[in-house]
Amino acid sequence: MTAPKKLYIKTYGCQMNVYDSERMAEAMGGQGYVETDSPEDADMILLNTCHIREKAAEKVYSELGRFRGLKTEKPDLKIGVAGCVAQAEGEEIMRRQPLVDLVVGPQSYHRLPELEARVRNGEKALDTDFPEEDKFEQLRSRPRAQRGPTAFLTVQEGCDKFCAFCVVPYTRGAEVSRPVDRILTEARDLVERGVREITLLGQNVNAYHGAGPDGDWSLARLIWALNDVDGLERIRFTTSHPNDMTDDLIEAHGTCDKLMPYLHLPVQSGSDRILKRMNRSHTADSYLRLIEKIRAARPDILMSGDFIVGFPEETEADFQATLGLIEEVRYGYAYSFKYSARPGTPAAERPMVEAAEADDRLQRLQALITRQQHELQDAMIGRTVKVLFEKPGRFPGQMVGKSDYLHAVHVQGEGLSKGEICPVRITGSGANSLAGERA
Ligand code: SAH
Ligand code: SF4
Ligand code: F3S
Repeated sequence: MTAPKKLYIKTYGCQMNVYDSERMAEAMGGQGYVETDSPEDADMILLNTCHIREKAAEKVYSELGRFRGLKTEKPDLKIGVAGCVAQAEGEEIMRRQPLVDLVVGPQSYHRLPELEARVRNGEKALDTDFPEEDKFEQLRSRPRAQRGPTAFLTVQEGCDKFCAFCVVPYTRGAEVSRPVDRILTEARDLVERGVREITLLGQNVNAYHGAGPDGDWSLARLIWALNDVDGLERIRFTTSHPNDMTDDLIEAHGTCDKLMPYLHLPVQSGSDRILKRMNRSHTADSYLRLIEKIRAARPDILMSGDFIVGFPEETEADFQATLGLIEEVRYGYAYSFKYSARPGTPAAERPMVEAAEADDRLQRLQALITRQQHELQDAMIGRTVKVLFEKPGRFPGQMVGKSDYLHAVHVQGEGLSKGEICPVRITGSGANSLAGERA
């Protein structure tokens, strides 16, 4: 028997890339590869990349440069680029970085085994098609390895919204939903392998409309079906668009017991003038009214969001409107970014806000968000929440897990085990996590 070949995968970007990396590792398992966490040991290195902001995309080239020495030492080493940079700049990558053997876009990764065979023959391989066949279906012969207590499950992919700043509709393609039966089968399979919490993924997950036994199902219907899967204890979903937050989904937040009280609902800006230029097709007010409705269904829900500051032509008054919206919502968590012009998107043609001004706005916005996050974290002290333990902490006898509200919680105590869901009394609040003891 020959020794297995080793695959090193590095993942950038969103959770969907994390899910895709797992699928690619499984596909390569069929080619006799096992995963390694060190690039020095690898026979193949695969970077699963993100194109969302310029910094994310540039990282790929600097990372590739670092592998030059390895490839000189080990001429048989194959280097591949997957994900959204591969999709957007496939040919340019091959040109700019001759040590790259293989480029595979996010919709073609089920073809990775064929591409690998070609590079083993000394060819270069590039596949950035949007093929007809369903990549998920092509990857069903999965190894039945035991899994950790939490997992991602992609249910929807791509986006038809074309926000003026965003590359996703170009890199991931049009919006597609997976059929209901495939998702339920995959969920049951995950549960059999030890998973207790599933996060349903999609760039526009709440636009889900997959084929069910009796016509298309909404995300809410899918969640209700998952609610009946024995052994599955928690359901989450991300990322949602405000315009697809339908009444049945809002209602599920109040009535579906396995659906967790956390919602990531990006708004990007609190200024209607900017929202319009972003092509977001919602207003600050419609977003606030939507949150009122969600909180009426589930008063304790923890809200998180995404913000872009320094979008072209954003004035101080526009920015103040964003701060005002944040004050009204009170976020438990938020991601904020300085606008990055992406080639090929409509906003890239417009005049930029001065960099120093954008940096200053980002700092002010982040200070406000951090204050809110800490206020909401501090309010948890003394309360008892359920925590799903995910891994041992830094100290002996410590476990780290997530609350219903997705707070990271460090728990000290004897006999705590991974995968267990326990009531925990919160005793302290840190920079990005809570501390507690078993109640
Ligand atoms: N589908 C999700 C988010 C996808 S990208 C949604 O509709 O909101 C994740 C986040 O990256 C976005 O919410 C946005 O805040 C940020 N982002 C996207 N393009 C960006 C750009 N060009 N510059 C800065 N941030 C960007
Ligand atoms: Fe990008 Fe999200 Fe807008 Fe789609 S809805 S274009 S993924 S920001
Ligand atoms: Fe990045 Fe592609 Fe995800 S651009 S955020 S990896 S969809």
